[in-house]
Amino acid sequence: MSKPIILTGDRPTGPLHLGHYVGSLANRLRLQNDYHQFLIIADTQALTDNYDQPDRIRENILQVALDYLAVGLDPNQNTFFVQSLIPELYEMTVHFLNLVTVARLSRNPTVKEEIRQKNLEESLPAGFLIYPVSQAADILAFNADLVPVGEDQNPMIEQTNEIARAFNRIYKTPCLKEVKPLIGTVGRLVGIDGRSKMSKSAGNAILLGDSFADIKAKVQKMYTDPNHLKVSDPGTVEGHVVFSFLDVFDPNQLEVQELKDHYRRGGLGDGILKQRLTGLLEDFIAPIRQRRLEFEKDPGEVLNICRKGSEVARNRAQSTLQNIRKAMALITPS
Ligand code: TRP
Repeated sequence: MSKPIILTGDRPTGPLHLGHYVGSLANRLRLQNDYHQFLIIADTQALTDNYDQPDRIRENILQVALDYLAVGLDPNQNTFFVQSLIPELYEMTVHFLNLVTVARLSRNPTVKEEIRQKNLEESLPAGFLIYPVSQAADILAFNADLVPVGEDQNPMIEQTNEIARAFNRIYKTPCLKEVKPLIGTVGRLVGIDGRSKMSKSAGNAILLGDSFADIKAKVQKMYTDPNHLKVSDPGTVEGHVVFSFLDVFDPNQLEVQELKDHYRRGGLGDGILKQRLTGLLEDFIAPIRQRRLEFEKDPGEVLNICRKGSEVARNRAQSTLQNIRKAMALITPS
Protein backbone atom coordinates (compact mmCIF):
# COMPACT_ATOMS: atom_id res chain seq x y z
CA MET A 1 0.00 0.00 0.00
CA SER A 2 1.92 3.00 -1.21
CA LYS A 3 -0.80 5.65 -0.96
CA PRO A 4 -1.13 7.62 2.28
CA ILE A 5 -3.81 6.29 4.60
CA ILE A 6 -7.14 7.77 5.62
CA LEU A 7 -9.20 6.34 8.44
CA THR A 8 -12.68 7.65 9.00
CA GLY A 9 -16.21 6.42 9.40
CA ASP A 10 -19.62 6.63 10.98
CA ARG A 11 -21.77 5.10 13.66
CA PRO A 12 -24.51 2.89 12.21
CA THR A 13 -27.36 4.43 14.17
CA GLY A 14 -29.38 5.21 11.04
CA PRO A 15 -29.03 6.10 7.39
CA LEU A 16 -26.75 9.06 6.61
CA HIS A 17 -27.97 12.58 5.86
CA LEU A 18 -26.94 15.84 4.23
CA GLY A 19 -24.98 16.84 7.34
CA HIS A 20 -22.76 13.78 6.86
CA TYR A 21 -22.35 14.69 3.21
CA VAL A 22 -21.05 18.22 3.70
CA GLY A 23 -19.26 17.33 6.95
CA SER A 24 -17.18 14.45 5.65
CA LEU A 25 -18.51 12.38 2.72
CA ALA A 26 -17.66 15.17 0.24
CA ASN A 27 -14.04 15.13 1.43
CA ARG A 28 -13.87 11.35 1.22
CA LEU A 29 -15.13 11.43 -2.37
CA ARG A 30 -12.55 14.03 -3.30
CA LEU A 31 -9.71 12.07 -1.70
CA GLN A 32 -10.54 8.52 -2.72
CA ASN A 33 -8.14 8.46 -5.66
CA ASP A 34 -5.12 9.79 -3.81
CA TYR A 35 -5.47 7.96 -0.50
CA HIS A 36 -6.24 4.48 0.60
CA GLN A 37 -9.31 5.04 2.73
CA PHE A 38 -10.39 2.70 5.49
CA LEU A 39 -14.04 3.43 6.26
CA ILE A 40 -15.10 2.16 9.66
CA ILE A 41 -18.74 1.38 10.31
CA ALA A 42 -18.48 1.84 14.06
CA ASP A 43 -21.10 -0.53 15.44
CA THR A 44 -19.29 -1.05 18.75
CA GLN A 45 -19.20 2.69 19.30
CA ALA A 46 -22.86 2.96 18.34
CA LEU A 47 -23.65 0.37 21.03
CA THR A 48 -22.15 2.54 23.79
CA ASP A 49 -25.43 4.43 23.99
CA ASN A 50 -27.63 1.89 22.18
CA TYR A 51 -26.54 -1.32 23.92
CA ASP A 52 -30.19 -2.26 24.41
CA GLN A 53 -30.84 -2.19 20.65
CA PRO A 54 -28.18 -4.39 19.03
CA ASP A 55 -30.57 -5.47 16.25
CA ARG A 56 -31.13 -1.89 15.19
CA ILE A 57 -27.39 -1.20 15.11
CA ARG A 58 -26.68 -4.39 13.14
CA GLU A 59 -29.35 -3.55 10.59
CA ASN A 60 -27.99 -0.06 10.12
CA ILE A 61 -24.56 -1.38 9.11
CA LEU A 62 -26.19 -2.12 5.78
CA GLN A 63 -27.80 1.33 5.62
CA VAL A 64 -24.48 3.11 6.11
CA ALA A 65 -22.72 0.89 3.56
CA LEU A 66 -25.54 1.61 1.09
CA ASP A 67 -25.05 5.33 1.63
CA TYR A 68 -21.30 5.02 1.03
CA LEU A 69 -21.93 3.21 -2.24
CA ALA A 70 -24.75 5.55 -3.24
CA VAL A 71 -22.68 8.72 -2.92
CA GLY A 72 -19.98 7.11 -5.05
CA LEU A 73 -17.38 5.72 -2.66
CA ASP A 74 -15.81 2.92 -4.67
CA PRO A 75 -15.35 -0.34 -2.74
CA ASN A 76 -12.35 -1.15 -4.93
CA GLN A 77 -10.51 1.96 -3.81
CA ASN A 78 -11.82 2.10 -0.24
CA THR A 79 -11.89 -0.58 2.42
CA PHE A 80 -15.31 -0.68 4.10
CA PHE A 81 -15.16 -2.50 7.43
CA VAL A 82 -17.16 -3.18 10.56
CA GLN A 83 -15.64 -2.25 13.93
CA SER A 84 -16.90 -5.26 15.89
CA LEU A 85 -15.24 -7.64 13.42
CA ILE A 86 -11.81 -6.29 14.50
CA PRO A 87 -11.31 -7.51 18.10
CA GLU A 88 -7.71 -6.20 18.07
CA LEU A 89 -9.25 -2.75 18.52
CA TYR A 90 -10.60 -3.80 21.91
CA GLU A 91 -7.18 -4.85 23.17
CA MET A 92 -5.65 -1.59 22.00
CA THR A 93 -8.42 0.31 23.77
CA VAL A 94 -7.63 -1.42 27.05
CA HIS A 95 -3.93 -0.54 26.83
CA PHE A 96 -4.72 3.06 25.86
CA LEU A 97 -7.19 3.51 28.72
CA ASN A 98 -4.28 3.55 31.17
CA LEU A 99 -2.87 6.61 29.42
CA VAL A 100 -5.98 8.77 29.88
CA THR A 101 -7.47 10.18 33.06
CA VAL A 102 -11.16 10.12 33.88
CA ALA A 103 -10.91 13.90 34.35
CA ARG A 104 -9.61 14.29 30.80
CA LEU A 105 -12.44 12.13 29.41
CA SER A 106 -15.03 14.16 31.32
CA ARG A 107 -13.79 17.37 29.69
CA ASN A 108 -14.28 16.20 26.08
CA PRO A 109 -16.67 18.84 24.67
CA THR A 110 -18.35 16.53 22.13
CA VAL A 111 -18.97 13.83 24.72
CA LYS A 112 -20.25 16.45 27.18
CA GLU A 113 -22.69 17.77 24.58
CA GLU A 114 -23.90 14.25 23.77
CA ILE A 115 -24.41 13.44 27.46
CA ARG A 116 -26.54 16.57 27.76
CA GLN A 117 -28.53 15.92 24.58
CA LYS A 118 -29.19 12.27 25.38
CA ASN A 119 -29.92 12.95 29.07
CA LEU A 120 -27.25 10.51 30.19
CA GLU A 121 -26.12 12.55 33.23
CA GLU A 122 -27.70 10.21 35.78
CA SER A 123 -26.88 6.93 34.09
CA LEU A 124 -23.75 7.42 32.06
CA PRO A 125 -22.44 4.08 30.76
CA ALA A 126 -18.68 3.80 31.35
CA GLY A 127 -18.39 2.56 27.77
CA PHE A 128 -19.84 5.81 26.50
CA LEU A 129 -17.45 7.97 28.53
CA ILE A 130 -14.45 6.12 27.12
CA TYR A 131 -15.53 5.87 23.48
CA PRO A 132 -13.00 8.54 22.46
CA VAL A 133 -10.27 6.12 23.58
CA SER A 134 -11.73 3.35 21.50
CA GLN A 135 -11.93 5.81 18.60
CA ALA A 136 -8.22 6.55 19.12
CA ALA A 137 -7.62 2.82 18.70
CA ASP A 138 -9.67 2.85 15.46
CA ILE A 139 -7.44 5.56 14.09
CA LEU A 140 -4.03 4.51 15.43
CA ALA A 141 -4.51 0.85 14.45
CA PHE A 142 -4.30 1.88 10.82
CA ASN A 143 -1.33 4.21 11.03
CA ALA A 144 -3.54 6.79 9.39
CA ASP A 145 -2.23 10.08 8.05
CA LEU A 146 -5.50 11.94 7.71
CA VAL A 147 -9.00 11.74 9.22
CA PRO A 148 -11.73 13.56 7.25
CA VAL A 149 -14.55 14.22 9.71
CA GLY A 150 -17.17 16.74 10.71
CA GLU A 151 -16.23 19.55 13.08
CA ASP A 152 -17.67 17.76 16.12
CA GLN A 153 -15.00 15.05 15.80
CA ASN A 154 -12.07 17.40 16.32
CA PRO A 155 -11.84 16.64 20.08
CA MET A 156 -11.51 12.94 19.20
CA ILE A 157 -8.49 13.67 17.03
CA GLU A 158 -6.89 15.71 19.81
CA GLN A 159 -7.48 12.83 22.22
CA THR A 160 -6.00 10.40 19.70
CA ASN A 161 -2.83 12.43 19.32
CA GLU A 162 -2.42 12.81 23.09
CA ILE A 163 -2.60 9.03 23.40
CA ALA A 164 -0.11 8.51 20.57
CA ARG A 165 2.37 10.90 22.19
CA ALA A 166 1.89 9.39 25.66
CA PHE A 167 2.34 5.85 24.35
CA ASN A 168 5.51 6.68 22.43
CA ARG A 169 6.99 8.54 25.41
CA ILE A 170 6.12 5.99 28.09
CA TYR A 171 7.07 2.89 26.12
CA LYS A 172 10.04 4.61 24.48
CA THR A 173 9.17 3.51 20.95
CA PRO A 174 7.93 5.75 18.11
CA CYS A 175 5.25 3.18 17.49
CA LEU A 176 2.14 5.33 16.95
CA LYS A 177 1.71 8.13 14.45
CA GLU A 178 -0.14 11.38 15.11
CA VAL A 179 -2.89 12.23 12.63
CA LYS A 180 -4.33 15.34 11.06
CA PRO A 181 -8.07 16.05 10.93
CA LEU A 182 -9.60 17.33 7.73
CA ILE A 183 -12.78 19.20 8.55
CA GLY A 184 -15.57 19.51 5.96
CA THR A 185 -16.24 22.79 4.16
CA VAL A 186 -19.35 23.33 6.23
CA GLY A 187 -18.53 22.80 9.89
CA ARG A 188 -22.04 21.96 10.91
CA LEU A 189 -25.13 21.79 8.77
CA VAL A 190 -28.08 23.01 10.78
CA GLY A 191 -31.17 20.79 11.07
CA ILE A 192 -34.49 21.78 9.47
CA ASP A 193 -35.71 23.00 12.88
CA GLY A 194 -32.82 25.48 13.04
CA ARG A 195 -32.22 24.57 16.67
CA SER A 196 -29.21 22.25 16.48
CA LYS A 197 -27.00 20.45 14.03
CA MET A 198 -28.63 18.00 11.69
CA SER A 199 -29.06 14.58 13.27
CA LYS A 200 -31.34 11.66 12.71
CA SER A 201 -32.11 11.28 16.41
CA ALA A 202 -33.19 14.94 16.67
CA GLY A 203 -35.65 14.25 13.81
CA ASN A 204 -34.38 17.25 11.86
CA ALA A 205 -32.44 15.52 9.09
CA ILE A 206 -32.78 15.26 5.32
CA LEU A 207 -31.57 11.78 4.43
CA LEU A 208 -29.46 10.94 1.40
CA GLY A 209 -32.12 8.43 0.38
CA ASP A 210 -35.11 10.74 0.86
CA SER A 211 -37.80 10.78 -1.84
CA PHE A 212 -38.85 13.97 -3.60
CA ALA A 213 -41.99 14.04 -1.43
CA ASP A 214 -39.82 13.77 1.74
CA ILE A 215 -37.57 16.59 0.59
CA LYS A 216 -40.51 18.79 -0.29
CA ALA A 217 -42.23 18.20 3.04
CA LYS A 218 -39.04 18.80 5.03
CA VAL A 219 -38.18 22.03 3.23
CA GLN A 220 -41.77 23.11 3.82
CA LYS A 221 -41.25 22.59 7.56
CA MET A 222 -37.95 24.51 7.71
CA TYR A 223 -37.64 27.19 10.35
CA THR A 224 -37.76 30.66 8.80
CA ASP A 225 -38.32 34.10 10.34
CA PRO A 226 -41.27 33.82 12.75
CA ASN A 227 -41.82 37.59 12.56
CA HIS A 228 -42.06 37.61 8.78
CA LEU A 229 -45.84 37.37 8.69
CA LYS A 230 -46.75 39.13 5.45
CA VAL A 231 -44.72 38.93 2.27
CA SER A 232 -44.26 42.70 2.40
CA ASP A 233 -42.74 42.60 5.91
CA PRO A 234 -38.98 43.05 6.17
CA GLY A 235 -37.38 39.75 7.22
CA THR A 236 -34.31 38.44 9.02
CA VAL A 237 -31.91 36.21 7.17
CA GLU A 238 -29.80 35.10 10.16
CA GLY A 239 -31.11 31.83 11.56
CA HIS A 240 -33.39 31.39 8.52
CA VAL A 241 -32.80 27.73 7.71
CA VAL A 242 -33.72 28.00 4.02
CA PHE A 243 -31.02 30.62 3.58
CA SER A 244 -28.52 28.51 5.54
CA PHE A 245 -29.13 25.71 3.05
CA LEU A 246 -28.98 28.01 0.02
CA ASP A 247 -25.58 29.16 1.32
CA VAL A 248 -24.39 25.58 1.05
CA PHE A 249 -26.27 24.07 -1.89
CA ASP A 250 -26.98 26.95 -4.30
CA PRO A 251 -24.34 27.23 -7.02
CA ASN A 252 -25.45 30.79 -7.77
CA GLN A 253 -24.27 32.65 -4.67
CA LEU A 254 -24.67 36.03 -6.36
CA GLU A 255 -28.39 35.43 -6.66
CA VAL A 256 -28.54 34.16 -3.09
CA GLN A 257 -27.05 37.49 -2.00
CA GLU A 258 -29.73 39.35 -3.98
CA LEU A 259 -32.45 37.19 -2.45
CA LYS A 260 -31.14 37.99 1.01
CA ASP A 261 -31.17 41.73 0.29
CA HIS A 262 -34.71 41.45 -1.06
CA TYR A 263 -35.86 39.44 1.96
CA ARG A 264 -34.41 42.01 4.35
CA ARG A 265 -36.15 44.86 2.51
CA GLY A 266 -39.45 42.99 2.45
CA GLY A 267 -41.52 41.80 -0.47
CA LEU A 268 -40.05 38.31 -0.81
CA GLY A 269 -42.08 35.36 0.47
CA ASP A 270 -40.74 32.17 2.01
CA GLY A 271 -42.61 30.08 -0.56
CA ILE A 272 -40.35 31.16 -3.42
CA LEU A 273 -37.24 30.41 -1.40
CA LYS A 274 -38.54 27.01 -0.39
CA GLN A 275 -39.40 26.14 -3.95
CA ARG A 276 -35.92 27.09 -5.10
CA LEU A 277 -34.29 25.01 -2.35
CA THR A 278 -36.55 22.00 -2.97
CA GLY A 279 -35.44 21.95 -6.61
CA LEU A 280 -31.76 22.24 -5.72
CA LEU A 281 -31.91 19.48 -3.10
CA GLU A 282 -33.83 17.20 -5.45
CA ASP A 283 -31.15 17.69 -8.12
CA PHE A 284 -28.51 16.88 -5.54
CA ILE A 285 -30.18 13.83 -4.01
CA ALA A 286 -31.87 12.25 -7.07
CA PRO A 287 -28.74 10.53 -8.48
CA ILE A 288 -27.73 9.35 -4.97
CA ARG A 289 -31.23 7.95 -4.36
CA GLN A 290 -31.15 6.23 -7.75
CA ARG A 291 -27.84 4.48 -7.07
CA ARG A 292 -29.01 3.56 -3.57
CA LEU A 293 -32.08 1.82 -5.00
CA GLU A 294 -29.83 -0.18 -7.35
CA PHE A 295 -27.55 -1.39 -4.53
CA GLU A 296 -30.54 -2.16 -2.29
CA LYS A 297 -31.49 -4.93 -4.71
CA ASP A 298 -28.58 -7.06 -3.47
CA PRO A 299 -28.02 -6.46 0.25
CA GLY A 300 -26.07 -9.73 0.55
CA GLU A 301 -23.46 -8.40 -1.85
CA VAL A 302 -23.21 -5.12 0.08
CA LEU A 303 -22.59 -6.99 3.35
CA ASN A 304 -20.05 -9.14 1.54
CA ILE A 305 -18.11 -6.01 0.65
CA CYS A 306 -18.08 -5.10 4.36
CA ARG A 307 -17.00 -8.59 5.45
CA LYS A 308 -14.20 -8.80 2.87
CA GLY A 309 -13.04 -5.32 3.83
CA SER A 310 -13.03 -6.31 7.48
CA GLU A 311 -10.53 -9.09 6.74
CA VAL A 312 -8.18 -6.60 5.11
CA ALA A 313 -8.65 -4.16 7.97
CA ARG A 314 -8.08 -6.86 10.57
CA ASN A 315 -4.73 -7.79 9.05
CA ARG A 316 -3.54 -4.25 9.38
CA ALA A 317 -4.80 -3.88 12.94
CA GLN A 318 -3.08 -7.14 13.89
CA SER A 319 0.29 -5.89 12.79
CA THR A 320 -0.12 -2.62 14.76
CA LEU A 321 -1.20 -4.58 17.83
CA GLN A 322 1.94 -6.71 17.55
CA ASN A 323 4.05 -3.55 17.58
CA ILE A 324 2.13 -2.25 20.57
CA ARG A 325 2.65 -5.44 22.55
CA LYS A 326 6.32 -5.45 21.61
CA ALA A 327 6.75 -1.81 22.68
CA MET A 328 5.13 -2.64 26.01
CA ALA A 329 7.26 -5.79 26.28
CA LEU A 330 4.20 -7.92 27.05
CA ILE A 331 4.67 -11.66 27.31
CA THR A 332 4.85 -13.51 24.00
CA PRO A 333 2.69 -16.55 23.31
CA SER A 334 4.50 -19.89 23.20
N1 TRP B 1 -17.40 9.09 16.12
C1 TRP B 1 -17.77 8.94 14.74
C2 TRP B 1 -19.24 9.38 14.61
O1 TRP B 1 -19.84 9.80 15.54
C3 TRP B 1 -17.61 7.55 14.21
C4 TRP B 1 -16.22 7.01 14.29
C5 TRP B 1 -15.81 5.88 14.99
C6 TRP B 1 -15.05 7.52 13.67
N2 TRP B 1 -14.49 5.69 14.83
C7 TRP B 1 -13.99 6.66 14.04
C8 TRP B 1 -14.80 8.63 12.84
C9 TRP B 1 -12.69 6.92 13.62
C10 TRP B 1 -13.50 8.87 12.44
C11 TRP B 1 -12.45 8.02 12.81
O2 TRP B 1 -19.81 9.27 13.56
